[in-house]
Amino acid sequence: MGKPTFYITTPIYYPSDNLHIGHAYTTVAADTVARFKRLTGHDVWFLTGSDEHGQKIERMARANNQEPQAYVDKIVAGFKELWSKLDVEYSDFIRTSEDRHKKVVSEIFARLYEQGDIYKATYEGLYCTPCEAFWTERQLVEGNCPDCNRGVELLQEESYFFRQSKYADRLLEYIDQHPGFIQPVSRRNEVVSFIKMGLEDLCVSRTTFDWGIKVPFDPKHVIYVWVDALTNYISALGYGTENDELFRRYWPADIHLVGKDIVRFHCIIWPILLMAAGIDLPKRVIGHGWLLMESGKMSKSKGNVIDPLVLIDKYGVDAIRYYLLRELPFGADGYYSEDNLVFRTNVDLANDLGNLLSRTTAMINKYFDGRIPQPGSATALDQELIDLALQTPAEVERLVDAFELSNALVAIGRLVARANKYIEETSPWTMAKDPDEHDQLATVMYNLAESYRMATVMLTAFMPGFPARVWAQLGISDRSDLHTWESLTWGRIPPGTEISRGQPLFPRIETEKK
Ligand code: MSP
Repeated sequence: MGKPTFYITTPIYYPSDNLHIGHAYTTVAADTVARFKRLTGHDVWFLTGSDEHGQKIERMARANNQEPQAYVDKIVAGFKELWSKLDVEYSDFIRTSEDRHKKVVSEIFARLYEQGDIYKATYEGLYCTPCEAFWTERQLVEGNCPDCNRGVELLQEESYFFRQSKYADRLLEYIDQHPGFIQPVSRRNEVVSFIKMGLEDLCVSRTTFDWGIKVPFDPKHVIYVWVDALTNYISALGYGTENDELFRRYWPADIHLVGKDIVRFHCIIWPILLMAAGIDLPKRVIGHGWLLMESGKMSKSKGNVIDPLVLIDKYGVDAIRYYLLRELPFGADGYYSEDNLVFRTNVDLANDLGNLLSRTTAMINKYFDGRIPQPGSATALDQELIDLALQTPAEVERLVDAFELSNALVAIGRLVARANKYIEETSPWTMAKDPDEHDQLATVMYNLAESYRMATVMLTAFMPGFPARVWAQLGISDRSDLHTWESLTWGRIPPGTEISRGQPLFPRIETEKK
């Protein structure tokens, strides 16, 4: 039997500007789940990319005296650089301006037209140009676009429409029969009540700009950005082409990870498009919360945008990943603050995690000449630590599967804290004074090294950078079999292993540095 497959996606980002720390959160979270699934024996495909078409991007390019393609090429290169600096290991990066994508979108559009699910009509409506969306009078907020709060204009257009309304009941039934489809429940309820208010057919073409995928049989029209963008999840797998091996292997997606603002697109337009095209629906759409600033949403106009590259240079990638994953509870919003980032790094990483390794290696050096000793029999206190180390992996796996990444870190943190407390409780420095307690001291040292190994394996997906340094200090760099999920049973680290003390894993951040 082959490994079970697991396909996870991020939203594809608009290359209208550089990405900020909020975008980094989404991608780091998806990367963590992807890494975790690889670690736990899955055959993983992890897709990210860029959503390059539309009027807004066309305008920005022109304002910069550039062709749209040249303009987005440069920004997308920056995306890739950011992901690499954040240790994001994607399987593929799809750009909507690539031919492989455009072909699939055109083919589906033409097919839906032929089967009558897309039709042409004249449309008159209130249009918000920056958001590229039509609104009804009722949806406006004080006469302005409900999304961006800017003015709208009355526009009359000949357009193509997608018969969304026809599929509303089927979608409701699907959501009802698949309780895990939209998570968390609060988002699911929002989507359900939105559909119940009545779905109108969706306008799926524009004639007001050029930069996009042309309607294949009517090239005056450009295909609506969301139909274009959503299709990336299958075009990247070669859907409908001769090379559709990836599609057959990985579709339907296990998780589409998206921010709360785009849940509706993913839970209404996307499933209906798939239904109409006769394609299976994704298994789960997870809508996460937002990373906010004290001053509200991050935006260029407010001048409160946090550049992840600056933070990585200052604090290191593991600390940034840890902070993002630890800070946002599943589904809820969180507030970004550099003070908190420093606090978390100092308390959780420098004090708890980092110090535990320094203390352990220092004591093994001092009491056992730098070799991990052979443990003796376990007391009740030893057993308590061992039991926690043995229970934690299953707990972490359950939490990651539920997308509770922050709680998964809390669970691993509990083991680290328990080990730190175990040092206080066993008081090795007292044992060391009494030759009768030599065996007991050996047991304590062994248990500390082994729990540390286990905690590190569990943290690998969250912070991929630091484990190599732990393996070096514990003397097991060349024992990759001890870095695996399968190795999370007790007693694997061999007695006699020579440790080597190293630099602190996470130096404390002095407040002046900040
Ligand atoms: N291009 C569309 C997505 C198409 S997917 C088929 C888009 N792009 S985006 O660049 O505007 O946003 C991408 C993702 O970043 C969204 O999921 C959005 O929620 C997320 N975030 C943007 N700002 C964010 C925060 N401040 N915090 C967390 N996530 C945020 O929408």
